[in-house]
Amino acid sequence: MLRPTTTIITSSTTSALLRTLTTTTTTTLPKTTTSTSTKRHHSSVSANELSHFSSLATSWWDPQGPSRVLHLMNPVRHDFIASCLAESTPISSTTPSSPMDPTNTHNRNNLRYLDIGCGGGIFAESLARTIPSSTSTSGEGNELLTRTRASSITALDPSPTLIKIARDHARLDPSVQAHLDSGKFKYVNSSLEEFIPTLHTPTPEGNTNGDARFDIVTLFEVLEHIDNIPGSITPQSFLANCLSVVKPGGWLIGSTIARTFPSWLVNQVVAEAPWPIGVVPRGTHEWKKFVNPGELEGWVQEGLMRGQDGRAVRGGSEALEGAKWRCEGVVYFPGLGWKLVKGSESWGNYFWAVKKGV
Ligand SMILES: C[S@@+](CC[C@H](N)C(=O)[O-])C[C@H]1O[C@@H](n2cnc3c(N)ncnc32)[C@H](O)[C@@H]1O
Repeated sequence: MLRPTTTIITSSTTSALLRTLTTTTTTTLPKTTTSTSTKRHHSSVSANELSHFSSLATSWWDPQGPSRVLHLMNPVRHDFIASCLAESTPISSTTPSSPMDPTNTHNRNNLRYLDIGCGGGIFAESLARTIPSSTSTSGEGNELLTRTRASSITALDPSPTLIKIARDHARLDPSVQAHLDSGKFKYVNSSLEEFIPTLHTPTPEGNTNGDARFDIVTLFEVLEHIDNIPGSITPQSFLANCLSVVKPGGWLIGSTIARTFPSWLVNQVVAEAPWPIGVVPRGTHEWKKFVNPGELEGWVQEGLMRGQDGRAVRGGSEALEGAKWRCEGVVYFPGLGWKLVKGSESWGNYFWAVKKGV
């Protein structure tokens, strides 16, 4: 069931969207100007951002420390993911067609997750806890079905310092350590651009055997840290790369901040004020890097129509068929934490998600 606060692009609005796209794509997005390219090996990783976040590593897991608002965001992240899955659960390649099939995986966690920009692992580790252990069953031989339906998670960050912090923390919990040992939970110190070529991709004939793309890709509080260097790397080209690692029918789910006057006041002036008012370290955010929901939706639409090398891969209507867009505002209330608030996506923090068509 969808929340009433959710903005969704479904079949009723898709045709209007497609009309817009077919009239604007060719004029505003000529093939030669896109910067979406992994082949050119432009790194999306900004040295300043990397050094800022790496410097927070030792306090990353302090729930009262500089990453406090990220810790507090976890429950809403899980809720939002669950609401996306309630809207449409990706059909895993291992899901059989017949419910009578003895290998039926409908009642099992079968979704593969990729968490991009995992930092010290606040979300990744919480997701790993939702992967059933090899011994957990419902009593009838089936594994328990958890809300995230996660069967594995690969978590990626370009900071070696943060990946070390993340791994060390994960080892403190034997159930999470077991997933690290079994390979169901992996931390990878890599940029997305370096990681993509390591995946198996479908053949030009569309054969997805060995397709290593993911059912769910998460991108929490990362997009607003990507530099905008036209002709090199942009948040838009980074987003297209994120979309390229999502399987057909899968979701890319993230959170970011709208670029508005209230968000400048809240996220830069108040949130970065000295203690006891501020909740994040000074220099965490750069207002001009914030992304409005409308901009993001446009980037998503273009990203769906282009491959990793920036070439148009499919026509507008075909690429967007079955695609869904969701956007939901979230507000931090001191003492209460983050709450989903209808309409607030147009002026502050928000969750967003795109489902790729099958
Ligand atoms: C605000 S933290 C969010 C961490 C984590 N997603 C969370 O919400 O708990 C931003 C993270 O993005 C990472 N990051 C910055 N640029 C990146 C890039 N180009 N690719 C992947 N991660 C990046 C940083 O290293 C940092 O760990």
